[in-house]
Amino acid sequence: MSIKQQLPLDNRLSLCAGFVRENTRLADVGTDHAYLPVGLAAEGKILSAVACDVRTGPLENAKTNILRFGVEDIVKTVLSDGLDEVSPDEAFDIVMAGMGGELIVKIISRTQWLYDKSRRLILQPMTRAGTLRLFLYENGFSIKEEKACVSGRKCYSVMMCEYDGIKRPCSRKFEYFGLLSDDGSDDAKRYRAMIIQKLDRKINGLKKSGRIPEAEFYGNIRDEITA
Ligand SMILES: C[S@@+](CC[C@H](N)C(=O)[O-])C[C@H]1O[C@@H](n2cnc3c(N)ncnc32)[C@H](O)[C@@H]1O
Repeated sequence: MSIKQQLPLDNRLSLCAGFVRENTRLADVGTDHAYLPVGLAAEGKILSAVACDVRTGPLENAKTNILRFGVEDIVKTVLSDGLDEVSPDEAFDIVMAGMGGELIVKIISRTQWLYDKSRRLILQPMTRAGTLRLFLYENGFSIKEEKACVSGRKCYSVMMCEYDGIKRPCSRKFEYFGLLSDDGSDDAKRYRAMIIQKLDRKINGLKKSGRIPEAEFYGNIRDEITA
């Protein structure tokens, strides 16, 4: 049985794993169960990994999986808020998956060594993907690739980013859809439909509670991104 069959690496984590460079040193921030670094280590794809989490409970799960797959020489656990306890020389590819976009922004903003061309960021926000895209473009990060995937009943975006110091304008359409705006895949279409559905729900909620100017504001955004 292959490692992927043994480890519950769903479409979302598999998509993140696919963006990790071969023979890199990886940090998985908010690792929880550490499926991602354990899977990559067991496949021999990475040199080393730090599986970080801010809570001890998840790190206990991580340790169990590391031992179960015999990758303790490659993957170590670190109790860390973001990358605060991680040294720059042990993290060239950095995955932040399954966390809110605002938290990802906070972690990147206070980790100065991520603002460096040698680092690759693989980001999978659960919420506020638009806030994250805006932050990346305003702060000199390029989104080199972005893909959507469906896992269970939900649809996710995964962004592969690198710092080049060039600040880019971020259109409204880019804020909401990123590089998925012109992607013809079924998963990207589903992602765009999900974003529009969320926006419609928000507009209807605002209308029902009498917040008409706000409803109009978001209505205009809807028109702009679907034009
Ligand atoms: C929903 S899990 C995601 C697990 C895994 N990355 C995935 O995508 O399946 C989120 C994890 O992030 C951790 N976390 C939350 N805030 C964090 C922070 N500031 N620094 C590091 N880890 C954090 C939580 O403790 C939790 O284990």
